[in-house]
Amino acid sequence: MRTMLPLVLAGIVCSLACSGGPQPPPFRPVADVKQLMQGAIDPSADVLWEATGEIITLEGTTRRRPKNDEEWAQVRNAAIVLTESGNLLMMVPRAKDGSEWMKRSQELIDVGSAAWRAAEAKNVDQLFTIGGDVYEACSNCHQRYMEAIVNANK
Ligand code: HEC
Repeated sequence: MRTMLPLVLAGIVCSLACSGGPQPPPFRPVADVKQLMQGAIDPSADVLWEATGEIITLEGTTRRRPKNDEEWAQVRNAAIVLTESGNLLMMVPRAKDGSEWMKRSQELIDVGSAAWRAAEAKNVDQLFTIGGDVYEACSNCHQRYMEAIVNANK
C-alpha cells in the first residue's frame, strides 16, 4: 500500500498541473506602445475629433458633423479601434505596470465605448463632448508615462 503513495501523489500533481484550467491564449503582441499610438490610436482619435466642432471663417461659423451613413460609420469604426486599443495597451509587454497603467487603459476603453455609442445614436453634441473626454484620457496617461512630458514636468 505504502509504495502506492508516490504514484497517487504524482496523479494528484498531474491532475492539477496537466488540466489546471485552459492554456493562456497564444497572444503575440507585435507593435510596441509607440507604434500602436502612431498606427491605430492617434489616427482614430483624429477621425473622432475632426468629425465635430466649429469652423470659424470670414464667412461665419459652421458646425462640422458627419454628413451621411458612411461618415458616421467611419466615426464608429474609429471609436471601436480606440476602445479595443485599451485592451491592447494592457497586454504584456506593453503594460508599464499592473495598477495605474491598467486604470489609464481602462479609461480609454470607457471613453472609446462612449464615443461608439454616440456614433451609433448619431448624436453630434454627445460626440463633441466625448471628444473632450477622449482628449483627457490620452493626456492623463501621457502625463504619467510619456517620457517627454514626464521629464518636462520634473
Ligand atoms: C495607457 C496609456 C496611454 C493612453 C491611454 C494613451 N497613450 Fe499615447 N502614449 C503613451 C506612451 C507611454 C507613449 C510614449 C511611447 C514611446 O515613446 O515609446 C505615447 C505616445 C503617444 C504619441 C507619440 C508617438 C510618437 O510618435 O512618438 C501619440 C501621438 C499618442 N501617444 C497619442 C495618443 C492619443 C491620441 C491617445 C488617446 C486617444 C493616447 N495616446 C492614449 C501612453 C498612452
